[in-house]
Parts: sequence; structure tokens; C-alpha cells
Amino acid sequence: MTPRSRLLLILGLAVAIFGGGALALTLVEQSAEPAAVAVDTASGAAIGGPFTLVDARGQTVTDRNFHGKWMLVYFGYTFCPDVCPTTLTNIAQALVQLRSHATDLLPVFITIDPQRDTPKVMGDYVKAFDPRIVGLTGSKAQIAKVAQEYHVYYAKQANSGSGDDYLVDHSSFVYLMSPQGKFAKVMPGSLSAGEMADAIRPFLESTS
Ligand code: NI
Repeated sequence: MTPRSRLLLILGLAVAIFGGGALALTLVEQSAEPAAVAVDTASGAAIGGPFTLVDARGQTVTDRNFHGKWMLVYFGYTFCPDVCPTTLTNIAQALVQLRSHATDLLPVFITIDPQRDTPKVMGDYVKAFDPRIVGLTGSKAQIAKVAQEYHVYYAKQANSGSGDDYLVDHSSFVYLMSPQGKFAKVMPGSLSAGEMADAIRPFLESTS
């Protein structure tokens, strides 16, 4: 992603997430960039919602399987050359910094590239960062639905490669959801591990 498109994306999503419920925002990327991005929050600024996805063992799971713990949700893909590995490294280090509080937290990495990110690929990938991170994939439709619920933007980069060799632009936010599955907080994926741990800790302490 170019710095310009990344900036537009971050600005757009920040407005979409933090802005009013009636706000409808359209970002139009230029030239050879991916086609227009529309983030429509007219139906309300709520973040999250019910989902049905597939875990690393190929089992169907829903959002209800994760209720009872705080859930830290991040969207990306295993072929991501830079942003995703960095963010997952920070999430893993934040878990270490949260020490015993981390037992109340379930980090979930959801792919926006289900074509290549099979259950096994996801499971092997997240394990390399921290075995506590849960990797989820699903059908194209299941991924599209959950991404829409979290206001996640993603688009295969035009001209980035052919066949199974391509890049996917995607927004990079980390969402904290309550043990009841309600939205609690959104953080930029660029936070350091320490900043992320500090942002999450008060929520975990509030329920322990
Ligand atoms: Ni990424």
C-alpha cells in the first residue's frame, strides 16, 4: 500500500469508527490504486457482531464460542509482508506484559485472504507468534460478513502479482470486545506492545 492510500485509509476508518452513526464516507483511491472504497456506517457505528468462521482444525466456530473472555480481534493475512507480522508480534508481547491478566484475554487473528489462508495455514502461522492466538478463516462470504461488521477494509492489490502471488491492502486496527461480545475499544495496529498492554489492562482488571 502506498503511504498516500494508507493515510486515506486510516483517516477514513478513523472517521468511520469514531464518527457519528449517520456518517457515510466514500474514499476514492486514484490511478492504479484499488477501486473505490466505501465505508458506510449509516446503519450505526456499532462494531462487531455475530460471525461464523472456521478454526485451525477445520471446525466451525461462532462468536458465541468466544464469549466469557475479553477478545482481541485483528484482521490480516499470513502472506502480509510487513504490517501483520509486526502487529502480531506486538500482540504476543502484550500478552507477556499482561502476565496473569492475559488468561482473561483471547487474541483472535481473522484472515481477509481465505483463498490462501486455509485452516492449517492460519493455525501454523499464529502458533509462531504465540500459541494463545487463535487463527480463524472461512468462506469468502463468511470473511466478507465479519469484516463488514468490524468496518474492516480489504482489497487485493491490482498488479501486485498473478495466480496465488498477490498482496492484499487492508486496514489495521485492533479491537477489544467484552466477555459479552460487545465492542469495548479500538486501537491502531501500530501501537507498541507496551502501549497495547496499557490500553487493555484496565478492562481486564475491571472484571477480575
Ligand atoms: Ni497485513
